[in-house]
Amino acid sequence: MAIVQFPEGFKWGAATASYQVEGAYQEGGRGLSIWDTFARTPGKVFMGDNGDVACDMYHKYPEDVKMMADMGIQTYRFSIAWPRIIPDGSGEVNQEGLEFYHRLVDELLKYGIEPMCTLYHWDLPQALQDRGGWDNRETIDHFVRYAEIVFESLKGKIKLWATFNEPWCVSFLSNYLGEHAPGNRDLQLATNVSHHLLVAHGRAVRKFRELGIAGQIGIVPNMEWREPYSTRQEDIDACERQAGWLNEWFIRPVMHGHYPEMLVEWFRGKGVEVPIQAGDMEDISQKIDFLGVNYYTGTVGRYKENEGLFDWEEVDMGWDRTDIGWTYYPQGLYNALMFLKNNYGEIPIYITENGACYNDEPSADGKVHDDRRIRYIKSHLASVSRAIESGVNVKGYYAWSLMDNYEWAFGYSMRFGMTYVDYDTQVRTPKDSFKFYSKVAALNWFKI
Ligand code: NOJ
Repeated sequence: MAIVQFPEGFKWGAATASYQVEGAYQEGGRGLSIWDTFARTPGKVFMGDNGDVACDMYHKYPEDVKMMADMGIQTYRFSIAWPRIIPDGSGEVNQEGLEFYHRLVDELLKYGIEPMCTLYHWDLPQALQDRGGWDNRETIDHFVRYAEIVFESLKGKIKLWATFNEPWCVSFLSNYLGEHAPGNRDLQLATNVSHHLLVAHGRAVRKFRELGIAGQIGIVPNMEWREPYSTRQEDIDACERQAGWLNEWFIRPVMHGHYPEMLVEWFRGKGVEVPIQAGDMEDISQKIDFLGVNYYTGTVGRYKENEGLFDWEEVDMGWDRTDIGWTYYPQGLYNALMFLKNNYGEIPIYITENGACYNDEPSADGKVHDDRRIRYIKSHLASVSRAIESGVNVKGYYAWSLMDNYEWAFGYSMRFGMTYVDYDTQVRTPKDSFKFYSKVAALNWFKI
């Protein structure tokens, strides 16, 4: 038995994202997003599930914020749906959309819960996708305008801002692997998207500074960890490429103003170039105030000729997996955090997402005994605590997720929540992990 202790002032939070929880897809003047379209495309999402209703948080937010207060979290990370603010992405501003987020934020502030707002968690207005989406540089300008409107409207109330959630997913998962909206499978296009997102990020940060908005702004890349199967150089190199693509492709340009040269060369070997224009790298590397880290999994891998993009293959070590099939590897979170410190110094870090998919249903006693989720959260928090002891500047932790919600291409079949959602009745039931987490948030320590 050991005590895992967190520093005073460490922030405990939970996260969600607009399309995954809001529902009300045709209310309040909301325009359509690429996820409305994708979810309706046969074969793209499990059972054809969509976010039309989701957790109905658009209507139930007072109850949900009360639930956050019961949980005792000090901060809540949510995202704004661009199509609620500018229904066609580039035209008229929809006041009703802004008003919804004011109501939500006011409710949070009423309970002393600090909002962290993500500007882009994947719901691009469909009208912009019809004009090329993130492949089209004009989307950058539309994004910066959208960001400015939101900054100006919600400044003073929101102090923590994130530009993009998981840019790797927005670019490569969505436009090379085709698994998320808009579902393209084109490496050059995906690379264009990755670059344009980064430029949009940097210009939004610049705008934030120009407007003199009080608060902090950062970006939220997803990180995974890759352990080489052996000490052979080719295994080490293959893992570095694979992990670098996921992590470094986005973090290095933001922090150091250039892409990892090794990966640029690798892409070049495949006939793919990054469409950099004059001034882009300066824009991208605007100083940020914090890095958000979303971490879920890590794997072992090795070199395999002609396998995937990077001559890399995963090796199944028989490790535990969560119900979505991702390997359980808490040490990877420690490694990722140490990697950030060793490469980028003392930048403040928020764990903006960490959590597990376990599809436990209510038991006969009406409760949801998700012991596996508690074990997952404990072991990952232990990694965070060790990283802090090793000098990583971690400021807070957001559990994914506050409640079960729409898990993208998996629809409603995968549950990450600390609160169980009955999608027929919209009744919320706190799981055992909810109770565990609320104790941690109150005490700042737990036993392992
Ligand atoms: C990361 C994404 O940001 C979030 O939207 C998703 O639900 C979780 N990972 C779990 O897959």
